[in-house]
Amino acid sequence: MQFFLDTADIDSIKKYASWGIVDGVTTNPSIIAKEGVNLEARIKEIAEIVDGPISAEVIATDAEGMIKEGRKIATWHENVYVKVPMTSEGLKAVTVFSAEGIKTNVTLVFSVSQAVMAAKAGATLVSPFLGRLDDISEDGMQLIADIVQVYENYGFQTQILAASIRHPLHVVQAMKIGADIATMPPSIFDKLVAHPLTDKGLAAFLADWEKVKDKQ
Ligand code: E4P
Repeated sequence: MQFFLDTADIDSIKKYASWGIVDGVTTNPSIIAKEGVNLEARIKEIAEIVDGPISAEVIATDAEGMIKEGRKIATWHENVYVKVPMTSEGLKAVTVFSAEGIKTNVTLVFSVSQAVMAAKAGATLVSPFLGRLDDISEDGMQLIADIVQVYENYGFQTQILAASIRHPLHVVQAMKIGADIATMPPSIFDKLVAHPLTDKGLAAFLADWEKVKDKQ
């Protein structure tokens, strides 16, 4: 199971990369807009910190435009994955990228049929947005489970990246179901680590140690 950071904030990426548990980074136009930075410059900066897949999204909505943008994005760094929206034009672009050996992440996936279409086009990664489905009272985790099953049934090689994660339980459930990757906001990393019994136990150990520290 790989853990990706869903952010373009350099301080956060440095902080969590120093823990040794960041396998990659995902960005999207909203994430880049939040940082107010140049996409190419920021992706290159991230690539200096994290040695793993880094997704950068195309803005064009027609296949020709996506292909032009994606080919350029792919030259920024060997670890860059071209993020392509799940549309029929996106499928055309993914087919071309796949033939050219350009890695892709098909994004904004909300159904099993979309995930299958992306896999058939040769997507490297597929990103079902489970939190956004939960937000509209649909079962995002069931979508992940269904994609896992269908990919297994037919031996698709596309990796499943659980995206739009809202809390640590999403991560744990996605792992139990068999998603390959979870991408999450930085705060989820803290929540995955924290446990009140760990804090309580450590405080007790340190307090007890105070009683014998002069004997050491
Ligand atoms: C991942 O690639 C997506 O950009 C991201 O997970 C979307 O998350 P959101 O629904 O919280 O915006």
